[in-house]
Amino acid sequence: MNDRKTSDAAKTDPIRIGVFDSGFGGLTVLRALLPQIPGAEFFYLGDTARLPYGSKSKATVARYAVESALLLESYGADYLVIACNTASALALDAIRSAAHMPVLGVIETGADSAAAASVSRDVLVLATQATVESHAYAQACAAHGLRSVEKACPLLVPLIEEGWIESPVTREVLRIYLEEARAAANEAGLAPDTVLLGCTHYPLLRGLLEETLPKGITILDSAETTATRVRRDLPALPTAHASGRDADLGRCHFFATDSVDKFRTLGSRFLGQPIERVDLIDLGG
Ligand code: DGL
Repeated sequence: MNDRKTSDAAKTDPIRIGVFDSGFGGLTVLRALLPQIPGAEFFYLGDTARLPYGSKSKATVARYAVESALLLESYGADYLVIACNTASALALDAIRSAAHMPVLGVIETGADSAAAASVSRDVLVLATQATVESHAYAQACAAHGLRSVEKACPLLVPLIEEGWIESPVTREVLRIYLEEARAAANEAGLAPDTVLLGCTHYPLLRGLLEETLPKGITILDSAETTATRVRRDLPALPTAHASGRDADLGRCHFFATDSVDKFRTLGSRFLGQPIERVDLIDLGG
């Protein structure tokens, strides 16, 4: 499978970082990784045929995520970023058991950034249904002494995928979710000063969130913290070194399990620059 690790030539290869998401949202994490890790080659897999993960069971998400992780390992990934909150919340242990490389999820790094930002020590987490039900964020926040209220926002992913980023419908849906979250926080006696975007899609709604939330609330996503953590981890890896290449897309390989055209169109929106080539992968059902 991965014989580059044993060959002499491999020692001079750039490090290969696998980035996995259920679809396009993880491209917001890749976007943060690119300038931070200029020496790496990236293999991004979006399991678009089986999206969304956020409404599925732990067993199903774990099966899908492990298959995807092993595929990226077969492409020679030295390090894997699970750039999907749902897969990180439900399947990190399963992926770590199956893979033979360091694996980083986005829950821990998101909680790290909330811990650094929150003064009130109360955090509101917005995420998919499955992530909220796992309480992975509540546990990761509690490890930092933070209290949290977790709010599932299942309508946001389809609205964002539809491209309705600024639509009045999305604005109203978001307003209702935030109102419900505020009521839940009040009931629990919490006063969140930080909103953690616990879903890879939500950074696209940052502008709308800034307009909708009261002034003074900090909005965080785990992309930057994750990229910083990957950079910190890299020197520990055997093949890590800078190749001197720029933060461009020439060193990115994109794979999707469904329509490559849709991936190019939607993915470019998440990545913030055009994606030209995407390879179709069949991971089965
Ligand atoms: N990538 C997922 C997450 O961050 C959102 C999309 C999905 O439900 O698959 O939770």
